This record gives sequence, C-alpha cells and structure tokens, in this order.
Amino acid sequence: MSLLRTSVVSRALSRSYATAHAAGKSPTAVVMLNMGGPSTVAETHDFLLNLFMDGDLIPLPFQRFLAPVIARRRTPQIEKQYTDIGGGSPILHYTQLQGDGMAKLLDELHPETAPHKAYVAFRYARPLTEVTARQMKEDGVKRAIAFTQYPQYSCSTTGSSLNELFRKRKSTELDTIEWSVIDRWGTHPGFIEAVAQNIEAALAKFPAETRSETVLLFSAHSLPMSVVNRGDPYILEVSASVNAVMQRLGNSNPFRLVWQSQVGPSAWMGMQTGEALKGLARLGKKQVVLVPIAFTSDHIETLYELDLEYTKEAEELGVEVHRAASLNDSPVFIRALADIATEHLRDCKAGKGPTSIQMSLRCPGCTNATCGQQKAWFAGSGR
Ligand code: FES
Repeated sequence: MSLLRTSVVSRALSRSYATAHAAGKSPTAVVMLNMGGPSTVAETHDFLLNLFMDGDLIPLPFQRFLAPVIARRRTPQIEKQYTDIGGGSPILHYTQLQGDGMAKLLDELHPETAPHKAYVAFRYARPLTEVTARQMKEDGVKRAIAFTQYPQYSCSTTGSSLNELFRKRKSTELDTIEWSVIDRWGTHPGFIEAVAQNIEAALAKFPAETRSETVLLFSAHSLPMSVVNRGDPYILEVSASVNAVMQRLGNSNPFRLVWQSQVGPSAWMGMQTGEALKGLARLGKKQVVLVPIAFTSDHIETLYELDLEYTKEAEELGVEVHRAASLNDSPVFIRALADIATEHLRDCKAGKGPTSIQMSLRCPGCTNATCGQQKAWFAGSGR
C-alpha cells in the first residue's frame, strides 16, 4: 500500500473515530507495543540510548554509566545503516497502518466494544509510552488492551514493554484505565498463514524443478544465553512458530531455525544466520529462502542485515537467496491481528481475562521484582 493511500485511509479512520468520540463514546484502546526504531537518522542516538539503558533487554553491569558510552560509540555505525536502508526505520509507518486496519475490522467483528482505536507505544523510539498515555487520556480512554506486537514472548521484549507500562502507570494516569493483556500469539493460524504465504511467494522465484530443494532458513533475533538460561520462553515459542509454519507448508522443504543480530562479546543463542549461510554453501546448497519469523514489519535487521549483508555474502559463495517479505501491509496479517483481539475481547467477557494465564508463571531464574508486580497490576490486584 502506498504512503499516500495509507494517509488517506488514516484520515478516513480518524474521521469516523472523531464522530464516535463526539457522540460521547470513549474508544476501546488497542495499544500496539513494540521496540520501535528511529524514523529518521537523527533519532538514532536517542533510540540506542533508550535501548542500552533497558536492563530487561540488555543487562549490563553499571548500566546507567555504561549505556550512554556504548550508545555514543555505536551511533555513527548505526546511523550509516539507517541511511543505507533509506533514511530511517519503517516500523512506525507499518505499525500505524496495521493498527488502523485492525481497529477498523474490530469495529465490525466486535461491535459491543466499538469504537476501537489503535495506539502505538514504543519502548525505545517515538512515540514512547508517556506520549501515548497523554493521547489516551485526551481521548477519554477507560478500557485498553496492551497488545504485544512481538508474536513470541520474551521477558526482554514483551516483558520489558509491560514492565515499562507498569512503571509509568502512576505518572501518566494509566492506572485509571481498565487493562487487559495479549502477551503472545506465535502460533495463531492467521499469523502462520500470513508468513506461509510470503514464503510461498519467495519460493516461486526459484525454478519449479529445483524448488523443493530450496532450504528455508528461519531467522529470529538472538538472545543472550544469560536470558535463555534464566528460563525465558522465547526460544521455545519461536520454535513453535517455525513448526506451525512448516506444518502449514506440508513440510515441503528442508529447513533450519537460526539466530541473528547478536552484539557484544558474551555468549548468545546460536547458530548465527551468517554462519549458517556459509555452512549451507559448504554443503553445496544453492538455493535459500530467508524467513524473518519474530517481527511484524521490516526493520533494520531485515533491510540491512538480511538484505544487504547476508544475502550479498551468500551470493558471493554461489548461493541464490530470496527473502520472504515481512508482514508489513499483508491483509492476511491485519485480519489475524483483528481476530486475535476479537478472541481476546470475547475471552475477557467470558471471564477469562484480564491477564493471559501464560503470564502467571515467572521465569524460574527471574530476580526482577517488577515482573511479579506488573502481572499483579494487570490482573487488577496490584494497584
Ligand atoms: Fe522472566 Fe522476570 S525475567 S519473569
């Protein structure tokens, strides 16, 4: 969908929301939680600073002192990467587009809680939680769903966003709102279908005679082993997504799940995507489809790392690589988001809310007090 069409759709949606608001009905907010990315190159330093300050994502010794130093040191290199992918991250553009499309569908699928309005709350980039909270207050929101846009749960990602909501609840009056949480959806059939369709489109670029020999290389953001070893569920949940996609594809191709984007010298979950591509070249594999499986839109890890770095390296080794498109403006995916939210609202009405039962178990190795409090707050007992 073009940017122009998107803004026309957004204006139409705001008009219909404005009418409902004028009629005195406060919207049911669906808050799209994600890490975010710098929309312009100039925002790169602040994004990195917020990211390295987050102990839920990257636990550092002396975090408050080390984080600014690391952010400053990495800024020039990351600015160059954002310049190379067109001058900024498209995450905000796609999250708004997905959220607005989902809210419109929700009005039809679950009219009892209409009007619905999507809000974006990013953890490290504009719009941050406090800005979104102000907007929600202005709109008179009384009921909200915190809807993670990370399909698979990790305490470093979804957990971090929920901890941030919990921390900001008093200063931003978020605690006057009735909340419920969608904290994971990595095997939802709509999500799996959207990913599978994008893989099929990438596979179709290979000749029919050799298509079934093409290796599907699922690539997800890696995690430090210190996080994996405290019992974080992410690795298992990404594996479950891959398994569900392969079942949907009828196990049509050989596949592997590998991990990308590790930073720093400590041990991270492997094997790494770049090493896997080299290994496949050594094994004589000539065709690969790279599949981003743990993110809902293009971002620097797909547009720079997969497209500009790994694909080029693999092609130099004689491997033809096509990347499955990210979910971006996929109508199948936007419908899946609406279905997930509808199921959640029905569950809440049936008394199954307000928190996911999956949230009730903390990591066995968790030492972060906020995790437990945040879960109690969302359950309505921790104010
Ligand atoms: Fe997983 Fe706290 S780190 S629940």
